[in-house]
Amino acid sequence: MSTWRESFAELDAHGIERLEQASAEALASLRRPAGPRSALTPTQLHELIGANEICPEKGSSLSEVLNEFASSVWANSVVPFDPSCVAHLHPPALLPSVVTEMTVALMNQSMDSWDQSPAATEVELHLMKWLSHLMGMPTSGSGVMTSGGTASNLLGITLARSWAASTIGVDVLQMGLPPEAKTWRVLCSDQAHFSVQRATAQLGLGRDAVVTVPTDPRGVMDLAELDATIAQVQAQGQRIIALVGTAGTTDLGAVDALDAIASRAEEIGAWFHVDAAVAGSYLLSGTLAPMLDGIARADSVTVDFHKLWFQPFNASALVVKDVDRFDLLRVKSKYLDRGDEVEGMINLVGRSLDTSRRFDAAKIVITLRTLGREAFAEMIDRVVALSALAARGIAKADELELVTWPTGPMCVFDAPGHSADDLRRVQQNLLLRGEMVLGRTEIKGRAALKFTFMNPLVTDQDVERLVTMVISELHSLSVES
Ligand SMILES: Cc1ncc(COP(=O)(O)O)c(C=O)c1O
Repeated sequence: MSTWRESFAELDAHGIERLEQASAEALASLRRPAGPRSALTPTQLHELIGANEICPEKGSSLSEVLNEFASSVWANSVVPFDPSCVAHLHPPALLPSVVTEMTVALMNQSMDSWDQSPAATEVELHLMKWLSHLMGMPTSGSGVMTSGGTASNLLGITLARSWAASTIGVDVLQMGLPPEAKTWRVLCSDQAHFSVQRATAQLGLGRDAVVTVPTDPRGVMDLAELDATIAQVQAQGQRIIALVGTAGTTDLGAVDALDAIASRAEEIGAWFHVDAAVAGSYLLSGTLAPMLDGIARADSVTVDFHKLWFQPFNASALVVKDVDRFDLLRVKSKYLDRGDEVEGMINLVGRSLDTSRRFDAAKIVITLRTLGREAFAEMIDRVVALSALAARGIAKADELELVTWPTGPMCVFDAPGHSADDLRRVQQNLLLRGEMVLGRTEIKGRAALKFTFMNPLVTDQDVERLVTMVISELHSLSVES
């Protein structure tokens, strides 16, 4: 590919041929580290990556650049499909989604206005309608794709804030926050994702607007504590504008009692937002779906497809029970969303915090249609079973202790007699030697290690090996000291 003219991907025979050749070269260049990552230190990586000029005066051949990139970057990347990559909610991507990413880039639809993405807009709307239906929402349900759970939570809480203002006759987009906003509170569990606080901070309500409700030992919001917190906040003259339930907490995978929280939200006249970034896909599993009972009653729900739907980043959605709620967000623009388009020409910019936006719905729809619900149910059930298997191994090991019995794909444990620093060393040593990408966290002040199973291809033997590796790393700490 020597000239810029030949560097554009085009949909004619010549263009497709060049694309096929370039794709073959890109795939052939890929290098995979032997384990979940290579053993390069941060300094070595910094020097290796920094050695390459970003924009030389004259370019090189694509295969040369791809090969160099593969040996410096891909060869030193984390490998989400490696069985020892178990730290984060970071899945291996399914093949239909990966190939769709290339066609999405080639067609490059922008989701802000119908005239840039007519069919893609319909696909996104179709997916959002399906998702709201899957949750059991009324026909008014819909949604919009976002870049991730953080963005979806921000959008959900933005809607809650604008709705709260509208109930006292304030158009917050026009007038800004009313003085009453100083007393607005958002309640979520003490295990809720930090993006809830981040959202209130960015919305001018401040982090202090979030009041956390204590959880039980499984990490599930304690309903008696919720009632006590509601009473206490109201007694202080503060207004609870939103209750946030978490369906799948980041560390323990705990699912709050959504139906009970929905009833509380109704009673106090608050917006009900559900963060189902982690467990949203349980809706596809006959065994796990009942855990989400009550989700249909939410005003807004976050779902991350780039977690347990096995999609590449970015892929998230904010689903709303009533599509008209998006009007709380709409800022008309002269060139994009004029409001005078013919019936049915929906400009999704009116529902989003973004303007230009990727066609992320494509890979999800293609994957769901290719694999079907049953396959998804099997994959999701399998990753949850893997964490139960790890828990059984940990429960048997004298060196380790479960923080709680897992209900989701993550299994959290510590090592009695070992300090937080010991756990840090175990996790860092395994990472730096490129042997395991292990999770490390803190649950209510207790330092812990964590396996997060996001790969249904992991075997029972892999799980046994992971537990054994952690134990031997703990033993080698004792030898070192
Ligand atoms: C419960 C929960 N909500 C939200 C998020 C944020 O998602 P993202 O990383 O896609 O922004 C996470 C991330 O792990 C999460 O676990």
